[in-house]
Amino acid sequence: MGGGIAAYKAAEVLRRIQALGADVTVVPTRTALEFVGAATWSALSGRPVTADFFDNVHEVPHVRIGQQADLVVVAPATANLLAKSSYGLADDLLTNTLLTAHCPVVMFPAMHTEMWEHAATRANVATLRDRGVLVVDPDSGRLTGADSGPGRLPEPEAIAWIVQAALAKPNLTQDMRGRHIVVSGGGTRERLDPVRHIGNRSSGKQGMALAAAAVSRGARVTLIRGDVDVPTPAGVDVVDALTADEMLACARELAVAADVIIMAAAIADFRAETLPDAKIKKTDSSTLDLNLVHNPDVLATLVAERQGKAPLLVGFAAETGDDSGTWLEHAEQKFEKKGCDLMVANPVGHDRAFGTDTNEAVLLLGGGVTEEIPGTSKVELSQRVLDAVVERLV
Ligand code: CTP
Repeated sequence: MGGGIAAYKAAEVLRRIQALGADVTVVPTRTALEFVGAATWSALSGRPVTADFFDNVHEVPHVRIGQQADLVVVAPATANLLAKSSYGLADDLLTNTLLTAHCPVVMFPAMHTEMWEHAATRANVATLRDRGVLVVDPDSGRLTGADSGPGRLPEPEAIAWIVQAALAKPNLTQDMRGRHIVVSGGGTRERLDPVRHIGNRSSGKQGMALAAAAVSRGARVTLIRGDVDVPTPAGVDVVDALTADEMLACARELAVAADVIIMAAAIADFRAETLPDAKIKKTDSSTLDLNLVHNPDVLATLVAERQGKAPLLVGFAAETGDDSGTWLEHAEQKFEKKGCDLMVANPVGHDRAFGTDTNEAVLLLGGGVTEEIPGTSKVELSQRVLDAVVERLV
């Protein structure tokens, strides 16, 4: 952790990473300890904490910590730390750790907008990215003083998404760098009257996990965000779209320049035929008639309007089996009908898939080829989906 005011948020980041089941060694810079002291980090991590490589020299910590880590997360990464790291300086325990790490390194910069946009910082970030370091763009918003702009450390839960995604991919590399990935996630809310809507049970977790996985592989990611009840991963550009029509408009606009569109959103197939200005009132009748009309099928429209091979289009098929076929048979029919390049088929039910952290799926890869992904975390499933996507990107 570098020495910026955002160090106060790093305590919560630590908690979130521990909650993922990780054992965390905290390595602050000397200036970071000016903001939050070693006692806090020791108590929270349950380990001794120092900024100096002259402490516990017999354990050779300046080499051992980096060598043994599965992932190095730098949050916050200050302009000074980015500069030192890009030049390979090694004058404290953290910069030594960065030089000896064999594992992926993820940096979350946080600084004033002027510093983030300065040519020196831009060059240092570019150097680090060229070397395979994942440098996640900061959030925009209120900074330390009264000013605001890009430079805020993302919220701890947003950082935790990226850490979780990075840990879920063996031999993580920046293999999606230079690609623009669009993900739709969450449910839709089709308005019935000024106070009511028709929604569905989608939590948005699978879409968020896909977005986090794409960020962890260096992609530029835009999320078409429907109705969700989970936080959005760090480094993701968000466009909010609550109805099928809004999702279609966003997807069409983004399709012009996107390399990949992954439709994980649970989109209502119908909406109310008319939208009254006044509330629908309760009547004495025991039933209520609602006239619903078809919504556009976003994925099928993108397939129909695609020119050439891009963007690669990935659909989801959340299915239950019924008298006419198994869930997988229904998914295969849907894959055929929608005409997308890949389809992620997964069984759903009253207690399956919705709102959970895990999912199971069969990837339909075209030409009758399938790949089974047994029950696993939504981020790991996302990484497997992206493995298949990367193979198809030329
Ligand atoms: N989808 C879409 N537009 C819609 C409905 C669905 O783009 N109006 C997309 C979903 O994002 C998903 C895929 O199509 O990628 C399959 O969605 P699903 O709800 O499983 O299928 P439907 O096409 O709605 O068919 P059905 O509800 O009859 O199973």
